Amino acid sequence: MKQIQGYQMPKDFLWGGAVAAHQLEGAWQADGKGVSIADVMTGGNKEQARQVTKTVEKGKVYPNHWGIDFYHQYPQDIKLFAEMGLNCFRTSIAWTRIFPNGDESEPNEAGLKFYENLFDECLKNGIQPVITLSHFEMPYHLVKEYGGWRNREVIDFFTRFAEVCFKRFHNQVKYWMTFNEINNQTSWADPHHLLQNSGLILNDDENLEEAMFQAAHNEFIASAKAVKIAHEIDNNLQVGAMVAMSPIYPMTAKPADILEAQRAMQTRYYYGDVQALGEYPAWLIKYWDRHDYHIEISDLDRQILREGTVDYMGFSYYMSFATKDNGDEELHFNENTDLVDNPYLEKSDWGWQIDAKGLRYGMNWMNDRWHKPQFIVENGFGAYDKLTDDGKIHDDYRIKYFHDHILEMEKAVAEDGIDLIGYTPWGHIDLISASTGEMKKRYGMIYVDQDDEGNGSLKRLKKDSFYWYQQVIASRGENLNF
Ligand code: BG6
Repeated sequence: MKQIQGYQMPKDFLWGGAVAAHQLEGAWQADGKGVSIADVMTGGNKEQARQVTKTVEKGKVYPNHWGIDFYHQYPQDIKLFAEMGLNCFRTSIAWTRIFPNGDESEPNEAGLKFYENLFDECLKNGIQPVITLSHFEMPYHLVKEYGGWRNREVIDFFTRFAEVCFKRFHNQVKYWMTFNEINNQTSWADPHHLLQNSGLILNDDENLEEAMFQAAHNEFIASAKAVKIAHEIDNNLQVGAMVAMSPIYPMTAKPADILEAQRAMQTRYYYGDVQALGEYPAWLIKYWDRHDYHIEISDLDRQILREGTVDYMGFSYYMSFATKDNGDEELHFNENTDLVDNPYLEKSDWGWQIDAKGLRYGMNWMNDRWHKPQFIVENGFGAYDKLTDDGKIHDDYRIKYFHDHILEMEKAVAEDGIDLIGYTPWGHIDLISASTGEMKKRYGMIYVDQDDEGNGSLKRLKKDSFYWYQQVIASRGENLNF
């Protein structure tokens, strides 16, 4: 066993786990729930992307329809979370349980009741819920009938949903986030990201990048309005942004590589500039001009953005990227073509570069730029797990990943002075992968007995990492031995 002394985190630090409704609840049609984007995405794998079908088609596999049946099994699952020592639990509210089509004027009471009961159960077990409003699960009706987030009408539908949730749950939930990984749509050439983030299915004559900028703008407005509404309802509520932080390093010290990496960071994180600082950066406005992009932004919009800046920056951290000069005359970054492998880093079986120090780097970078409290709301390691004959899962690779990342997080707090609200590792209970739809890409510290086709007993088993994280939490981050 290695003796590793970490830093003790403050008493009120939130130690949790994170999931999203569509990846674990299942029960996709229960109690009046409508069809979400995730419900029309088939299963895929590393080689084969998930397909989006026009309707739910017979004979196809839709893993989000069953998730891990959390909808029915949550009371036992929450007991396990409490046993692990969690004092918070990040999940999302499935928009389609509250507004099945998204454009109704009245919410679905059965959906609200489900979350009220779930949050009660958490609180009874000493766990405070942390809630994302939109986590890759917008009503599919809004995609088909309104064109997703390119349409400004969706802003009102979202703020109505947000307001209903804040009013109903403000006594149970303090920490909220508006849009999960809002900046992942920077991979706009990948249709999967455009759909998951913004409900965009592209028309033939449309410029993908311009459509993405418009959709993102409409989400910024919706988010800023939601922040204001939340504070009016209850001044105690904290509403955050949520970005996927994957720092992009320059491949070498060649000045052109450095400039390219800087533009890459600007391109991937302008979202944070708008949500934390309340305005668009100058380079981006010039970029739109040069490309003849017409993004509809009114003076009132600018005011809404300034008045609706977020209270904190939530972020996910899984990996870092690297880039180099792409040789183009214009300084620009395309996430789909301009990333290069970093020879200093190893990768997961799904090709994600493992870089614990990148977490500390990213936290410092955000702190220097946005000056907001931070909340690590996702971090984790997707891997193939092996169940032994006696029902054990020896996931030392996952413990190593968490150990290295938690240590860097603690240094960022204790040595760099970053104001960090909490840490909620991703998928602390196995669930459906968002990118591939697989079950076998497992992140959990709790194993769920189910395969990619939905077969299995759904039994929950504690992995070695369960006991390790329990010890970390019990020592408030000091005991990282493994
Ligand atoms: C983030 C998402 O992108 O990473 C989660 O917010 C997702 O929804 C997680 O599950 C891990 O990605 P994946 O594709 O391995 O499930």
